[in-house]
Amino acid sequence: LAGLYSTAAVSTNPSVDPPPSLKIAVLYASQSGTAEGLARKVAKELKLKGHIASLISLEGYTPAALIAERYAILIASTYGEGDAPDAVQPFYEQLCLEHFPCCENLSYAVLALGDSTYEQFCKFGIDLDNKLATLGGNRICDRVDCDVEIDKSFAKWKVSLYARLDDIVAARPSRNVPSSSVTKEPSTEGDEPDPVSTYTRDNPFLAPLVDKRPLTHEVSSKLTLHMAFNISGSDVTYEAGDACGVLPQNDLRLVEEILHTLNFSGQVPVQLPKAGSTTLQDALHNHLQITRLTRKMIEAYATIGECQPLSGLLIPEQQAHLEKYTYDRGLIDLLHDYPGVLHDPADLVAMLSRLAPRLYSISSSPHAHAGEIHTTVAVVRYRSHNRERGGVCSTLLADRIPTGERLPIYIQPNKKFRLPAQSDAPVIMIGPGTGIAPFRAFLHERRALGSTGLNWLFFGERSAATDFLYREELEEMYKDKHLTRLDLAFSRDQDHKVYVQDRMLEQAPLMWSWLQDGASIYVCGDASRMAKDVDSTLHTIVGQQGHMDSESAKDFMQTIKDQHRYHRDVY
Ligand code: 2AM
Repeated sequence: LAGLYSTAAVSTNPSVDPPPSLKIAVLYASQSGTAEGLARKVAKELKLKGHIASLISLEGYTPAALIAERYAILIASTYGEGDAPDAVQPFYEQLCLEHFPCCENLSYAVLALGDSTYEQFCKFGIDLDNKLATLGGNRICDRVDCDVEIDKSFAKWKVSLYARLDDIVAARPSRNVPSSSVTKEPSTEGDEPDPVSTYTRDNPFLAPLVDKRPLTHEVSSKLTLHMAFNISGSDVTYEAGDACGVLPQNDLRLVEEILHTLNFSGQVPVQLPKAGSTTLQDALHNHLQITRLTRKMIEAYATIGECQPLSGLLIPEQQAHLEKYTYDRGLIDLLHDYPGVLHDPADLVAMLSRLAPRLYSISSSPHAHAGEIHTTVAVVRYRSHNRERGGVCSTLLADRIPTGERLPIYIQPNKKFRLPAQSDAPVIMIGPGTGIAPFRAFLHERRALGSTGLNWLFFGERSAATDFLYREELEEMYKDKHLTRLDLAFSRDQDHKVYVQDRMLEQAPLMWSWLQDGASIYVCGDASRMAKDVDSTLHTIVGQQGHMDSESAKDFMQTIKDQHRYHRDVY
């Protein structure tokens, strides 16, 4: 009774004794902006709940600052092969140093973001969570690992996070906090409005496709397309370096095959969490992911069908077998391999994730190609398990959308991948394959703006005769000296492979001298091999030319990263 009485006494006098608030750091490790967007939401909601929340990127943040915090929320994207986003690697490396002090005073919660089609699903978030626990930190709530379909997991994690924070607040003795001390807290990024982008994934712009042409020769082993969308008259804006999100559609033939296999009518009504009520055919055509198999799908299917052989694949010891089975298979394979499980269209809809947009680096400049957005798309086709397959979006663009038709698109800003602010600064761009895209944008942009900085491009593809993307434009720019150097690596034009990093090594002294002159380096393209090899080649060049041991070369590379002179847009 005494307790009840004192609580009541406190709550009747709110102006003197406001509810205790927590000072919470909301930290994010973002590569493409998703983690940042979620962190921004969390920071806002925490403020609405009366907490003092600051929104901070882990880029440039130090573990020492983290352990000085009392409460930290960490939203961490995994990227590449289970790595931290580029810019966050220094933070994580420092945190992992052996002598790192413990952080017993820190209470923290981690939301991990990833893509379950990759073996190292959410690995960075998982590692970060475990590391902080090992260092003595206290988990506010359990970590949640989000697949590309983020909404549900994010909501679930927030519910448990906010409930635990409420518990913490309730357990704290109430204090006399003069309201002025709350308002005097430094204003944080969380106060800023979201970046203006009228069109989003949930509200895309329907852009007419106005140009589509192959950049590869018809006898090439590859098909890479140049695409142009018309955005004139719309308020879609972008900058060179940004990406364009495209909302794809599945191939209707595959949808029909799935419906036929299940003996379902495409016209039955179904409910989707975001899109509301629609027909099963529309759900499978426009809204749901059917071309890949995920663990979540197998779990749901095994549960519905009480399917012993499938459940057996889900135990931890069978992880390798599960990955082998899901690799290069889609929903249709599951339906054929384990038939007779689904009898209710609602069960099918519930087991599928939302169809994710595809992001393409924009290859145009708003200053050079007014009213248009260009992208450079490698068309993915392959055969596996007795079936022709392909990338959902790239085959849509190649085969199923003629010019003149409209496609839902939006801009995904990439603020980390921008030309240097000084227009006379030299740039070195390394972009084999479709990695050329943002560099075509940069080159056109610099020309349109009259930037005087030197431009050096490394480009690589399989064969000069068939795969030299944007050949005429690039040769033209080289001829008129807009492109100071153009170094090419055609990997299959001789009996041994030649890659962009081999050309970089050949030019090591000149690259070193450009770096001495303040050049910025940009890398775009394949993350799993190319970007790693290029990175280690840069270390080699710096070590060799600067007469440094490996540690000093690493420090040098870190310095140019800190100076925002080393940028990567890799996927
Ligand atoms: P390859 O396919 O002949 O091995 C664009 O895809 C170009 O990048 C191709 O010439 C491809 O060569 C090349 N490539 C493949 N692996 C690479 C790597 N690890 N580093 C740099 N380029 C690579």
